[in-house]
Amino acid sequence: MSWLQLHMRTSKADEARLEQTLEDLGALSVTLADAADEPILELGPGETRLWQQMQLSALFEADADPAAITQALRDQLGEGQASDLSFESLQDQPWERAWLEHFRPMRFGHRLWICPSGQRVEAADALIIDLDPGLAFGTGTHPTTALCLEWLDGADLQGREVLDFGCGSGILAIAALKLGAAWAHALDHDPQAIQASAGNARNNKVIERLRLYAPGELPPSPVGLILANILSGSLIKLQPTLTQLAQPGAELLLSGILQEQAEAVLEAYRPHFQMQQAASRDGWVLLHGVRSD
Ligand SMILES: C[S@@+](CC[C@H](N)C(=O)[O-])C[C@H]1O[C@@H](n2cnc3c(N)ncnc32)[C@H](O)[C@@H]1O
Repeated sequence: MSWLQLHMRTSKADEARLEQTLEDLGALSVTLADAADEPILELGPGETRLWQQMQLSALFEADADPAAITQALRDQLGEGQASDLSFESLQDQPWERAWLEHFRPMRFGHRLWICPSGQRVEAADALIIDLDPGLAFGTGTHPTTALCLEWLDGADLQGREVLDFGCGSGILAIAALKLGAAWAHALDHDPQAIQASAGNARNNKVIERLRLYAPGELPPSPVGLILANILSGSLIKLQPTLTQLAQPGAELLLSGILQEQAEAVLEAYRPHFQMQQAASRDGWVLLHGVRSD
């Protein structure tokens, strides 16, 4: 079986009308992607946000007529909006496996690997996290997660109690447990993240050492290591909460911060933590702190 796929550009202002027109023309699906390097890094629970400029793809049955679709779009939207269209024929394939072509085992530091299911890591000393991309953020492909994973790989976590604040897929809590932490707490304000973390912890056989919290709940007592890969504005707002959850002498690892935002985050945490920049990658920085009061 094959399909006809239409590609065109659109803008946030025109997207809804265009999507309706394409559905009326028989489109089976409409997919939108960022067309102007405008990353949306974090969504609130249930929130949908669009880019200003988008690349749109619409899938039609193979026998749909490109000329008729083009003409209908021109009639409905005007020449300007319906210029720059292209069509391609897509052969059917096992789509649910297609991403595996691009998602290969990745190593972080010396021992830690993220490995999609069905693939293998040969290194004898490998500590493997079995993880497939899902709805929750955190596969290791983003620099902010990679910076945390590399730091965890180099840290002595034996017997420690860790909090993953904003756990997404649960990747950081699971990594800490695989690297020897005795116990991990994980929380997120998005229920989908909690569900994903539970599934991933189960697959990785660390669920017995992971405590998950419903959105809005916090661990009952402070811990010795807090990991938080959230955007800088949220990290600044969360300073009182993270401080309250840190034992005296606790370590704090903050990620999700662009280089130009680092000073504001450092300033927010300095009253309670001895702070420093621990690493950086592709314009993102990792901050490390030790509770000092
Ligand atoms: C960038 S993702 C990081 C996911 C994962 N920890 C990683 O390192 O890849 C940030 C996560 O924090 C969650 N989050 C953002 N603000 C939060 C808040 N105020 N309270 C709890 N979770 C929050 C988001 O829902 C998202 O799952």
